[in-house]
Amino acid sequence: MDAKRVRRIVCGGMAAGAMLVGTLMAQNATTVQPSFVNTLMPQPAQLTAGDGRLAVAPGVTVSFDKTHDERLEGAVEWAMQRLKNQTGVLMQNAAAGATGTLVVSVDGPGQAVQSVNEDESYTLEITAQAAHLHASTDVGAMHGLDTLLQLVQSDGMGFWLPAVSIQDSPRFKWRGLMIDVSRHFEPVGVIERTLDGMAAVKMNVFHWHLSDDQGFRMESRIFPKLTGEGSDGQYYTQEQTREVVEYARGLGIRVVPEFDMPAHSTSWAVGYPELASAPGPFTVGHNFGVFDATMDPAKKSTYAFLDKFIGEMAGIFPDEYMHIGGDENNGVEWKQNPAIQAFMTTHNLKDTGALQNYFNQQLLQILKKHGKKMIGWDEVMTPDLPKDVVVQSWRGFASLSAGAKQGYSGILSAGYYLDHIDPASTHYAVDPVPASSDLTPEQAARILGGEACMWSEYVEPRTIDSRIWPRTAAIAERLWSPQSVSSEDDMYRRLAVESLRLEELGLTHISQEDASLRALAGTQQIDALRPLAAVLEPVNFDTRSEWTQAHGGTTLSPMNRLVDALPPDPPSRHDFGDLMSTYLQDPVGHPDEESALTSTFRSWSVQPEMMELMSSSPQLAEGLPRALQLAELGTMGLEALSYLSSGVPAPPMWKPQKLAILDDAEAPVALTRFTVLKAMRDLVNEVR
Ligand code: ACM
Repeated sequence: MDAKRVRRIVCGGMAAGAMLVGTLMAQNATTVQPSFVNTLMPQPAQLTAGDGRLAVAPGVTVSFDKTHDERLEGAVEWAMQRLKNQTGVLMQNAAAGATGTLVVSVDGPGQAVQSVNEDESYTLEITAQAAHLHASTDVGAMHGLDTLLQLVQSDGMGFWLPAVSIQDSPRFKWRGLMIDVSRHFEPVGVIERTLDGMAAVKMNVFHWHLSDDQGFRMESRIFPKLTGEGSDGQYYTQEQTREVVEYARGLGIRVVPEFDMPAHSTSWAVGYPELASAPGPFTVGHNFGVFDATMDPAKKSTYAFLDKFIGEMAGIFPDEYMHIGGDENNGVEWKQNPAIQAFMTTHNLKDTGALQNYFNQQLLQILKKHGKKMIGWDEVMTPDLPKDVVVQSWRGFASLSAGAKQGYSGILSAGYYLDHIDPASTHYAVDPVPASSDLTPEQAARILGGEACMWSEYVEPRTIDSRIWPRTAAIAERLWSPQSVSSEDDMYRRLAVESLRLEELGLTHISQEDASLRALAGTQQIDALRPLAAVLEPVNFDTRSEWTQAHGGTTLSPMNRLVDALPPDPPSRHDFGDLMSTYLQDPVGHPDEESALTSTFRSWSVQPEMMELMSSSPQLAEGLPRALQLAELGTMGLEALSYLSSGVPAPPMWKPQKLAILDDAEAPVALTRFTVLKAMRDLVNEVR
């Protein structure tokens, strides 16, 4: 039994040893037709719904019929704990030699160190009598267990699994989430609950961005000043890191560490200024943007340092890949350093790009010596780079595609930047190999997948969950499911359910909003804030960055404002848009939609309780203009409904005036924006 998983299961209130052996209870649905609501996320490659349902009721059991190692046992225990949380039903181990209601049939544990080529496929056959999960590896079985949990259906009488036959495997091998823990540090607990969420949606790579200008977060015993002077005291010990790697392995997730080089490296130079291309001294960066600090590629001592450091890290991170960053070197320090300029002349390196290529070549030898392959951002892709380097594209599909044509493997991150605060639908529409791609099948096969990126300028432990979830589940589906799974409406329908399941796992992306609003309002009675909070979301990254720069914001600035409480892409955008588009198809023919819109618009009026709460703290008070604008939107909505239902034309100036109000409402206030303006514009434009 995996020690980590046991600890959690026991904390969850169920000691494995206390399980009682039960009897098989399967219900043959002769009278009840299965009503199977498919909320799977990601959707499997193939699913056939059958007849009948398998009751999830006291007495259900689980057994293994082939190999089972500690990791698989831990995964099954964890799944059973979650099933119990969901249904109240404790699935117990079948008696020795007996066949369980659920049979877990796994050929072998899989790779000792999970690689990008791990077999993640599984099949799941559920009938009214039994469920059979088959996989080649533990990792495939884990994915199957997550599917099984997502299949659970319920009504007032109880819970069941629908009869289905599923054959599933991922479209892409590399389905990652990157978290930048440099700009804001995330404690181990946050990382582990994020890993739980990733596994639930079948993601398999945690890319840990461990160093940047704003902090060096990984303990080195050889170079203790990296964290001693470069982390403001916030870093992971080697023991904690090993724990996270082991925890991730227990979930079928690879951990790829990133140490960003040669640029984005101020934090290295605080304790070890000799690494840098400028004399220093250096201090930990607390502001944002592209810094000048860059490692000195002309000194042998730089490589001697990196050799020791990478050797040490290779002993902690077992994954075959190590990410060297490589992005956004502005070349300023290299151009200003006469010794580096002389080195370039001697080595016939015509520009800083050529010098970075030289640096990468040295780094490649070091990585190779320590058994690692290189992955880096777009900028590492220079002509002399060997083809086994993986390029992570943050610049765009064109760059990824160009790499694939030259023979490089690549993963896509452009379009998956969570910090940009785009709707889930925007990310969902981004495909690493779009239907319009001109890549040959051989070139397309080099696109290994993609990674969502959580850069952390504007997140901290309290808010990171709502910036990652649930939108990342939509990206996870894009990377796992067939390309044909592309309906935005169906994605949002299932995402709403998946979001609840993720919260049940311990993520705080939903609860954080209310917790923050309660803290800001100083009371538990925050209902009056909801109509406003529900239709606001944070502004995008660029708007927040401009504001932050103009106001001298840093990594130390508090993130306890209204904007920080609000989740990106809240349900209101899609739900309200959907309601509006249905209504507008035929305003007189949709009385239910009209009445739903009427009550929504009424709820947007200025209520004394709301104004009182909004005035209870400076952070809420900065949103007061939004409350007044919302009331205007509500009035506009009611007027539009009345024109549309009566057929009476609006006065000539009505529409231009309302469109001008909508234009005004687009401007950021308190770093927030409305989610309903597009739908309101559609409504106003419909009025004659
Ligand atoms: C990046 O966004 N500079 C990788």
